[in-house]
Parts: sequence; C-alpha cells; structure tokens
Amino acid sequence: AGLGEIAKANGITFGAAAQGGLLGRDPAYAAAFQRECALLVPEYEGKWAALQPAAGRFDFKPLDSVLRWARANGKAVRGHTLVWHKDLPPWAQAALLEGPERARAVLAAHINGVLDYTRAQLRDWDVVNEVVADPAGSDTPQSEPGNLRASPWLAALGPSYIDTALRLARARDATLRLTLNEYGIEEATPAADEKRRRLLALVRGLLERGVPLDAVGLQSHLQLAKPFDPAVLTGFITALRDLGLAVLITELDVRESWDAPQELPARDALVAERTHAFVSTALAAGVRSVLCWGLSTGHSWLSTEPAVAMPEGRIHRGLPFDAQWQRLPMWDALARAF
Ligand code: XIL
Repeated sequence: AGLGEIAKANGITFGAAAQGGLLGRDPAYAAAFQRECALLVPEYEGKWAALQPAAGRFDFKPLDSVLRWARANGKAVRGHTLVWHKDLPPWAQAALLEGPERARAVLAAHINGVLDYTRAQLRDWDVVNEVVADPAGSDTPQSEPGNLRASPWLAALGPSYIDTALRLARARDATLRLTLNEYGIEEATPAADEKRRRLLALVRGLLERGVPLDAVGLQSHLQLAKPFDPAVLTGFITALRDLGLAVLITELDVRESWDAPQELPARDALVAERTHAFVSTALAAGVRSVLCWGLSTGHSWLSTEPAVAMPEGRIHRGLPFDAQWQRLPMWDALARAF
C-alpha cells in the first residue's frame, strides 16, 4: 500500500505538493502521486502570479491541470496560497503602491475571484503564507522591527491586511477552512522560540478580534543541523489546539547540513530518524494531516532553490523517494509514524 492508504487506515491524511505539468506528461510522476497520496497541493499553480498574471485577468488553466487530475484520480486538493509576499506579479506590486484603497480592492478582487472558482473543489486554503517576521538568529533575519514580515501587503495596508484577507475569505466561502501557514517554527533554536512566540501572539490577537481562522500550517522544512525537541513541538501544537485551531504539517522535507556524510545509507538514516521523531511527535499532539513538499528528490525545490540547495551538485535526500522513484528510508519512517 502507499503512504496515503497507510495513513488513512489510522485517520491521517497524507499528501504532497504536485506540479500540474508533470502530472500530465510524466507517467512515473503521476503514478507515484496516484499510489502514495490522498491529497495534492499545487506547488505553484495556486500562487498569485499563476492565477492573476494581469490585473483583472484570471487564468485558471495551470491550476486546472492539478484540479482535473485530482478529480479524475479521486484525490482531495488544498489551496496554496492567496496572500504571500512572493510571487506577486509586477502589476500587483505596482498597484499596492497606489495607496490603501487600491490595495484593498486588489486583495478583495483576487480572493473573491479565486474562491468563486475553487469553491467547488478546494475546501482548505493557505489564506496567508509566511506573514511572521524572522527574528535575529534565523537563516534570513529581518532587519526591520516588528513581529510581522515587511511584505508589500504590510507596507500597503498595515498589520490589518491579515484580518482583512481572512474576513474576505470567510465572507466569500463560508465553510472554507482558513489556514495560516508558516515556517521556522518547528525546531528548538532560540530564533524558532521567538518566532513561535510571535505567531502565537498574532493568532491570539486575531481570535480576540473575532477574525475567522481555523488552522495553522507548520511548513516543516526541517534541517538536520538544527536541534529538534519533541517537548517543544508538543507544547506549541498543544497551545494552538487549545485555541481551537487545527494544526497541519503542510510542506515536510528534510534539509541536510552542507557537511553531511558522503555515504547514502548514513545520510538516509539521519533523515529517516528525524522524520520519524518529528512526525510521530506531531501526530501524538493531534496533527491529522501530513503533507510533503513533493515526493521525490528529483523534483524538489531542495535541489533548485539556491538558498537551500547543497553545494557541488549533491542533492538533499529529504523526501520519501529518490530521483529514480526508489523508496528512501524516509518512506518507511513515515509509514512507521502513521
Ligand atoms: C516553492 C516551490 O517549491 C518552487 O517550485 C517555487 O519556485 C518557489 O516556491 N514555502 C512555501 C512554498 O510556502 O510555496 C515554496 O514553494 C517553498 C517554501
């Protein structure tokens, strides 16, 4: 059985981010998603630049490549992402500089236009992605003060842009699960401690103001170089669940350190061990969705994104399959955790 079936037997949803183009033209890629996943997340096709490349001109073709494949193969899909500081096309960046009234209109038009289209199939969206600022000591610390990331949205609308986005989404699609998705909050470093504090303060404020929010996504781009402490993760997930929120693992993968051992068995064992510790802790704390950011190391942002890639052509091993679609020990670690 695939991971999706193994997870489902225990009440857990397993899935992964998928690229619509590859689902359509790469049979091995499509077969792996068919076999392993109960749920798909469009890796790029739900982002702003893909959905609204020009002002007022929506293009749902790329997203449809994922939606149609998922429908035909009986898979659920979750949306990623309505509001983000990245992947804003030039026209939207320019519009946000025209003042708060125009910025608010652009935000509303995007959320309404997208949700009108996806309402029938997507019941969960990352409404806001990566809105908390990276504290000192993070990989990419933010120099500006404040708990929120200095994004074009914050500049245009102030901190209330998050409230506005969530309220717009609830108003347009009343039963949609509204998720706030974030990274850098999984491990036991001082920077992650501070980022967790900032996220909890943000979420508590939203709920106190009556802003609709249903779930928090832990991206879970883990790093072997960072310490992991089950008690810290359990405490954080419990704090979120005590606020009435669901907690999801939304983008799991494992990044090795640059001085990772050369031998694959040793590398794979470290990845598997960390995966098992992390996922089994999260499940014990009440997480019910485990989603990887891709399935194979051959199609992973871990290999292409300069900020996370390994030097000298080495590629990370932190997904369930290698580039030839052979199961890695991480696959077994997930199966055991479920
Ligand atoms: C990445 C995709 O994997 C890449 O293909 C794309 O070019 C850039 O974005 N956190 C997120 C995701 O929320 O949207 C990112 O996805 C990975 C990090």
